Amino acid sequence: MIQLHDVAIKFGSFTALHPTSLAFVPGQFTVLLGASGAGKSTLLRSLNMLAQPGAGHISVDGVGMLDNAKRLHEHRKRTGMIFQQHQLIGRQSVLANVLLGRIGYHPVWRTLFPLARSERRIALECLERVGLLHKALERVDCLSGGQQQRVGIARALAQQPRLMLADEPVASLDPASSRQVLAQLKRFCREDGITTVVSLHQVDLAREYADRIIGLSHGRIVFDAAPAALTPAQAAALYEQKSPPADSSTRAAPLKEAASFSTHTHLATAEELS
Ligand SMILES: Nc1ncnc2c1ncn2[C@@H]1O[C@H](COP(=O)(O)OP(=O)(O)OP(=O)(O)O)[C@@H](O)[C@H]1O
Ligand SMILES: [Mg+2]
Repeated sequence: MIQLHDVAIKFGSFTALHPTSLAFVPGQFTVLLGASGAGKSTLLRSLNMLAQPGAGHISVDGVGMLDNAKRLHEHRKRTGMIFQQHQLIGRQSVLANVLLGRIGYHPVWRTLFPLARSERRIALECLERVGLLHKALERVDCLSGGQQQRVGIARALAQQPRLMLADEPVASLDPASSRQVLAQLKRFCREDGITTVVSLHQVDLAREYADRIIGLSHGRIVFDAAPAALTPAQAAALYEQKSPPADSSTRAAPLKEAASFSTHTHLATAEELS
């Protein structure tokens, strides 16, 4: 559904993502794991170009290469983004927040006027799917953290996305709310065929929900396979804090291998990681 071709991202002289080639297939639920600073958010944000690649390019099925503003707008319109701090407008109603997900479908001037009934119906349906229809007219800041995150999901869902990006969506939630949020993301991934990429710190949750786990270390992909292939030693190695490797020429998975993920190819052994 979306492919990275030798994408590299730098902040000044620091390389946050080394040249990486990856393919995400439609309807797959991918979890990014790795220690703080490993490059999870950078990789995730590159998928809607919030982090700008300094090299390489990104292409999206049905849109093409993301190298001009028109295609990028088209791609972003169909890409939902969920944040750790959900970024909702607290003093507005739940429904008003979910309607923001529809803005990309209208010219700016149109959003100065109340949106059509059909738009409200889409927003209400999304609220029903996250189990919050009864909260539609309440202020967002009156909701619990878990409920607010589910409003964030409903807002992203209202975009009718093909791609859903969630950067540590459960970092501030208790275990029960975390599972509820991840279960909903997984359900919408399955039911709507939405390609979903989520960054997490909890290996147990990654094992429970992911179809595919991508492990990052110092801006490189060091693991890419199904959860069952992730050994305890590999999982532990992902969270070891150590200096970056001296050899910066090591490349991430070639596109071919990443695309044939169903073979459960993994890119590093426990020995290589430790
Ligand atoms: N806007 C930025 N300017 C400068 N450096 C940045 C910027 N964003 C990220 N970095 C650096 O890039 C590296 C990767 O950051 P990133 O946020 O992708 O890590 P992460 O794996 O998401 O970490 P965390 O688990 O803490 O969220 C880090 O060393 C970080 O300091
Ligand atoms: Mg991050």
